[in-house]
Amino acid sequence: MQQRQLGRSGLTVSALGLGCMGLSYGYGPATDTADAIKLIRAGVERGITFFDTAEAYGPFINESVVGEALEPMRDQVVIATKFGFRDGDTTKGLDSRPKRIRQVAEEALKRLRTDRIDLFYQHRVDPAVPIEDVAGTVKELIREGKVKHFGMSEAGVESIRRAHAVQPVTALQSEYSLWWREPEKEILPVLEELGIGFVPFSPLGKGFLTGAIDAETSFGEKDFRNTVPRFAPEARQANRALVDVLAGIAARKQVTPAQLALAWLLAQKPWIVPIPGTTKLHRLEENAGAAAVVLSPDDLIEIEAAVSSIKLQGERYSADRQKLVGN
Ligand SMILES: NC(=O)c1ccc[n+]([C@@H]2O[C@H](COP(=O)([O-])OP(=O)(O)OC[C@H]3O[C@@H](n4cnc5c(N)ncnc54)[C@H](OP(=O)(O)O)[C@@H]3O)[C@@H](O)[C@H]2O)c1
Repeated sequence: MQQRQLGRSGLTVSALGLGCMGLSYGYGPATDTADAIKLIRAGVERGITFFDTAEAYGPFINESVVGEALEPMRDQVVIATKFGFRDGDTTKGLDSRPKRIRQVAEEALKRLRTDRIDLFYQHRVDPAVPIEDVAGTVKELIREGKVKHFGMSEAGVESIRRAHAVQPVTALQSEYSLWWREPEKEILPVLEELGIGFVPFSPLGKGFLTGAIDAETSFGEKDFRNTVPRFAPEARQANRALVDVLAGIAARKQVTPAQLALAWLLAQKPWIVPIPGTTKLHRLEENAGAAAVVLSPDDLIEIEAAVSSIKLQGERYSADRQKLVGN
């Protein structure tokens, strides 16, 4: 798989990473540990060198699984994890106090079975802690060799600029896909100006853009999508129009809708590295194949015209989750 640089940081990773969250959290029961390890290692065999986890995924378990899977090939891969929720629990609110950041770093190093975190993201900006203090704490961890690069997630432009002035930010990880293009307005221009890489999460629209989900799909009891207005059955019904046009274009290109969605992201900027998540080997292979799909300028114009003709229904987050983004 080709490599990409995350902005001007010098951090080189495979053009597509692997989002590991769904192996333990968000979409239902955790995958059996042995199977999850097999999947992550299959990713390495197929050229993926960039793995995404967080303290909050599980919480804790996902880092342990990622750490165990990657221990034998630690020097070939880049591991990204995140701090920022009280006790690592997304339902308990934010906590980016310097003391807590240090504690998360120490515990994550143990769970990840490593001596350094390659990329340490603040999971959400904590309005109670000046962003300069957060960036300053990560700067110290970098000086101590425990962290290599600083990242932010779903941060607004002001926080990005202020943090970057204290400790250069290597990557911003925020939602971006063919059905969530908000970052194009303000975020991407600022990242380009500052030389910060962009890591789109939920690049497959949490599975919707692949065509595998329709109005009839029922999600498990613990599936996060039950709380997302955009996944309400009537919204799914309406939003199928987007999947249908993408499927038509994908068929003409002889690729799958998932590959088209990922190739479109890769075509936006050379410093964009999407991190699709899956629990299934055949889908991991399908998604990895997107790195070789080239979209011509005409393809991109066709996709743009098709997508802009469709009005999507439903917010991407429930009201309480929405409050946490863009700060
Ligand atoms: N920073 C943040 O706040 C944040 C938030 C969300 C996610 N993330 C990160 O981003 C990663 C990816 O995001 P995501 O998991 O939310 O969404 P995603 O990658 O857009 O979609 C994942 C979903 O799509 C399904 N899927 C994957 N490939 C498929 C294919 N080829 N065909 C059909 N279905 C497919 C998966 O199901 P199966 O498992 O059944 O294949 C899963 O339900 C996460 O793993 C996590 O590391 C970060």
